[in-house]
Amino acid sequence: MSDAVLSQFKQKEEKKEEKAGRKLRIGIIGTGGISWVHFYQYAKMNDVEIVALADLEPWKAYERIEQFNLSPDVRVYSSDKELFDNEKDLDGVSICTYHRQHAGPTINALEHGVNVLLEKPFTVTLDEAVEVMRAEKRTGKFVSVGFQPRFDANMKMIKKIVESGALGEIYYIQTGGGRRRGIPGGTFIEDSTAGIGAVGDIGSYSLDMVLNAVGYPKPLTITGYTSDFFGKDPKYNGEDAKRFSVDDFAAAFVRLEGGIILDFRISWAMHPTLPATRLSSARRALSAFRRPTAGTAPSAVR
Ligand SMILES: NC(=O)c1ccc[n+]([C@@H]2O[C@H](COP(=O)([O-])OP(=O)(O)OC[C@H]3O[C@@H](n4cnc5c(N)ncnc54)[C@H](O)[C@@H]3O)[C@@H](O)[C@H]2O)c1
Repeated sequence: MSDAVLSQFKQKEEKKEEKAGRKLRIGIIGTGGISWVHFYQYAKMNDVEIVALADLEPWKAYERIEQFNLSPDVRVYSSDKELFDNEKDLDGVSICTYHRQHAGPTINALEHGVNVLLEKPFTVTLDEAVEVMRAEKRTGKFVSVGFQPRFDANMKMIKKIVESGALGEIYYIQTGGGRRRGIPGGTFIEDSTAGIGAVGDIGSYSLDMVLNAVGYPKPLTITGYTSDFFGKDPKYNGEDAKRFSVDDFAAAFVRLEGGIILDFRISWAMHPTLPATRLSSARRALSAFRRPTAGTAPSAVR
């Protein structure tokens, strides 16, 4: 896009207001890999205190207490259920469990009157997603999904440009990508813990970024395909090939309300360059060439 168009969308610094008063009481469920970021960010907030943790392997929670120098009064439990049975005054929880354990603990939290920051992907199945949405409505509490790219400078800019009407009518969206470090391991590659592979791990970001930008139009029809071509093959995935039971590649063609076609491809491992995120309209195309990082200037938006 030309500088003249982009200059209409200058970004302003957002200032965060700190409120005095009682601190928010937070629990963290699942204290594995990504929980580190939740601990790190909460530690920077003066109005938040971490009061309870849960993990199926509680030693991980004790390690976090030490690592972040938390109070010895922080309670540690061995499951989300045990935590909610004992903690009666939580304001919110971060749910950082593997994908198969997203819906259950989230519904549990909501039923106990606790707001949720849930790691992506939202859920593994559509039925689970519906159950979580119903529980949210029933209880009046909030679930926010950790799609952090929504909040970085580039994606906020793209949404703003779309909403301004400067692009005109969008008729085609291309999105997807790959994983720089290839096929992951750990709890991401087994059906029993992950349930979905590249689609849930990184595809959920791509889909959320573009759908959020265009206001989440309803999907009308979907033609989808998944593959485990590289993940299942020891030639490419070594020992992990034996336990690999999710997808490593997916492609889908989605017809959205409003006459928009969404063309999606995601991969943990394939060779060819995957599509950048691109919104096409009659007037011009708007592309985010790389996954935006916080604070990046609009140079990544063309
Ligand atoms: N937003 C991001 O940038 C980002 C990055 C990485 C991972 N994630 C997401 O975070 C989630 C966790 O990823 P990870 O790498 O930390 O996985 P992990 O396997 O390292 O950690 C998950 C932890 O959850 C615990 N757990 C599972 N069910 C539980 C339950 N019912 N009660 C208590 N503890 C339970 C497990 O014992 C494990 O320690 C995944 O869904 C992943 O997609 C998000």
